Amino acid sequence: MKLWGGRFREEENKLMEDFNSSLQVDKRLYSEDIKGSIAHVNMLVKCELLTQSEGESIRKSLLSILEDIENGTLLIEGDFEDIHSFVEATLTERIGETAKKLHTARSRNDQVALDIRLYAKNKALEVIEHIEDLQHSLEQKAKANNVIMPGYTHLQRAQVVTLKHHLMAYFSMLDRDRKRIHNAIEMMNESPLGCGALAGTTHTIDREMTAEELGFSKPMNNFLDGVSDRDYLLELMSGFSIIMMHVSRLSEELILWSSQEFKFISIDDAYSTGSSIMPQKKNPDAAELIRGKTGRVYGSLTSLLTTMKGLPLAYNKDMQEDKEPFFDALDTVLSCLEIMSKMISTMKVNTENMKKAVKYGFLNATEVADYLVSKGVAFRDAHSIVGSIVIYCEDTNKPIEELTLDELKSVNPLIDEDLYDFIDYQNILNKGIKVNLLK
Ligand code: ARG
Repeated sequence: MKLWGGRFREEENKLMEDFNSSLQVDKRLYSEDIKGSIAHVNMLVKCELLTQSEGESIRKSLLSILEDIENGTLLIEGDFEDIHSFVEATLTERIGETAKKLHTARSRNDQVALDIRLYAKNKALEVIEHIEDLQHSLEQKAKANNVIMPGYTHLQRAQVVTLKHHLMAYFSMLDRDRKRIHNAIEMMNESPLGCGALAGTTHTIDREMTAEELGFSKPMNNFLDGVSDRDYLLELMSGFSIIMMHVSRLSEELILWSSQEFKFISIDDAYSTGSSIMPQKKNPDAAELIRGKTGRVYGSLTSLLTTMKGLPLAYNKDMQEDKEPFFDALDTVLSCLEIMSKMISTMKVNTENMKKAVKYGFLNATEVADYLVSKGVAFRDAHSIVGSIVIYCEDTNKPIEELTLDELKSVNPLIDEDLYDFIDYQNILNKGIKVNLLK
């Protein structure tokens, strides 16, 4: 049953067989494996390494295998080493001798590199679609909520912003995430098929043909590189990690904002859970899970980086360990983007509480300094004058805009009646380049 049994005198130890098998993990590559084999067979026929009828028989049977897997009549299971062995063994079972010609001018090394590239490319496009969905939810929520709120630095109230501007910050981050994945796809879009085990093949094959049929821009230049690097998975996983970092920060804000302390938003019941003991609890579990799963995606990236770091060229079996972390990171980023998008589109915004929060924390102090600058005071002096106004406000427990003109003038005589308009929160949003906050 082994693809490589010929040179062995004894049977493989059962423990070793299980240890070596990757079928349960790489079975999800079945469709790419079969499509890759079909392209390979088409090329072998064109290069006269297989006859038309041999090609036809293999092709037909591969398609029936694909169909049977998809409709559930053929289960991917058994003592097979990996998905490549499973497909070839099934083919042999179905058409006999001819199946043995499929692997002409091919190694599992270029085969697996091909399968995972095809799979990663398709799934990366799905990640891009998920990013775009989340961007859409953010944009809709932002447009519907062009409302004032406190902006923070160090989680201390700092200056006024709008919820729209705040949410659109994430839109911009995701835009770069989308481009990063797109760039990774462009870079990985070369075919490793035909690189063989590590040194090509003595057969005159047509690598351009398979590259084109499988949707790649060209065959890879270097055989050793083609079978031995997994940088494209690392690049995608770096992209996934950055996406997770962004959605994790957003999660953290949703968690804070939905707390009693902030009460800026409420997360829809559909994306919250309760407590088994405290009847009143509604917990932001979806956001917490996204924040938690971020660590898992970073872990997958680190895992493959570490696997790859000491490997001599070309293929080493260590590289079979590329799939689990990649699949896990991929599944995680897809589900997190989807849940986040739904959570954003269904959350309710408490505009009143945001507005109230603006009143406390001297969010217009910087604008008082700007006002003084407009009266000719140097900014550093203005900064210090406003510092003393803030101390006065703290002592009298009043916001700046509630001080009387006499109180203000006693700190600095340049202050006039027009200050009140200048530091009105809504007016602030209309001044200078701040109008961007409203756009
Ligand atoms: N299951 C293997 C992997 O995922 C396929 C390649 C095996 N190649 C070999 N020379 N043993 O890497």
